[in-house]
Amino acid sequence: MENQVKRIGVLTSGGDAPGMNAAVRAVVRTAAHRGIGTVGIRRGWSGLINSDFVQMNTSSVSHIINKGGTILYTARSQEFMDEAGRAKALGTCRLLGLDGIVAIGGDGTFRGALALSRQAAEAGMNLRVVGIPATIDNDIGCSHYTIGFDTACNTCIECIDKLRDTMQSHERCSVVEVMGRHAGYLALYVGIAVGATAVLIPERPVDFEKDVIENIRKARLAGTTHYMIVVAEGAGKAFYIGQQIQDAIGIEPRVTVLGHIQRGGSPSARDRETASRMGYAAVQSLLQDKGNRIISLLDGQIRDLDMEEALTMTKTFQMDRYDILESLTNSPSIAF
Ligand code: F6P
Repeated sequence: MENQVKRIGVLTSGGDAPGMNAAVRAVVRTAAHRGIGTVGIRRGWSGLINSDFVQMNTSSVSHIINKGGTILYTARSQEFMDEAGRAKALGTCRLLGLDGIVAIGGDGTFRGALALSRQAAEAGMNLRVVGIPATIDNDIGCSHYTIGFDTACNTCIECIDKLRDTMQSHERCSVVEVMGRHAGYLALYVGIAVGATAVLIPERPVDFEKDVIENIRKARLAGTTHYMIVVAEGAGKAFYIGQQIQDAIGIEPRVTVLGHIQRGGSPSARDRETASRMGYAAVQSLLQDKGNRIISLLDGQIRDLDMEEALTMTKTFQMDRYDILESLTNSPSIAF
């Protein structure tokens, strides 16, 4: 059945990720192409509570595909977690005549979206909600890929390559902390790409002696005089790990916490392209009068999954990548 949707809201919520703007652009332009109006909700769910919005059209999303951050701003809303806050948000939907919401963000964003849509149904409203996964952590269970991950990997690689130059000159050990409070995807991908001596991730219990000290030793025996330890923030604090290394083998590591630099920057080709496809798919899903969907990328295919089901899905951490890292960087004949 062709579309009863007339006007949709689009918002970005939670931690920002490069490519969010490309997704907003895709939503606005696909909607315009199909005769649907779009309102930009600013500052995530709190914008929906406070009626903080901006009218959007094809030209208001010009020249943003290449920009990091999000032109709609983002926030984490405590108030939206309560029924009363969501009731206010539904009031804004009624006021603005929104019959669909596209929410771009991570797991917390989607849980908020589901709660909103359930509350809307209880109130007799037909509010269709679609989520687009965007987080540099790549930790959404229902999607193999989240917008922003590739750019963040590239940012980390660029920084670590620079660190490597000076580490090499001074024959030092570097401990670099990358983001990933609950997930080690960023750390592991980056670790493989920079040829790290060791990578510590929250998904794998850390055996400090085996995973760190023994790897440094192997690298030294292979002739290397500089070492790169990459730590996901959820696996430990880089300063503490640096201190532990010093206590164990007497070398004085230099510690770098890459921090929020990882969340910024112009999105990579992969993030722009994925965001464009996902934004397009989100509007298609609304057009088909599907509510409560999450757009996901599974085995290279864009899919729209039932939100409730999607939020119960988990993805298996690819531990084989850990073996790849070990084989490539800690082989006795290959120096880091
Ligand atoms: O976007 C997810 C994430 O990057 C986590 O890896 C990190 O712990 C967190 O955001 C930090 O976010 P903020 O500083 O915005 O609270």
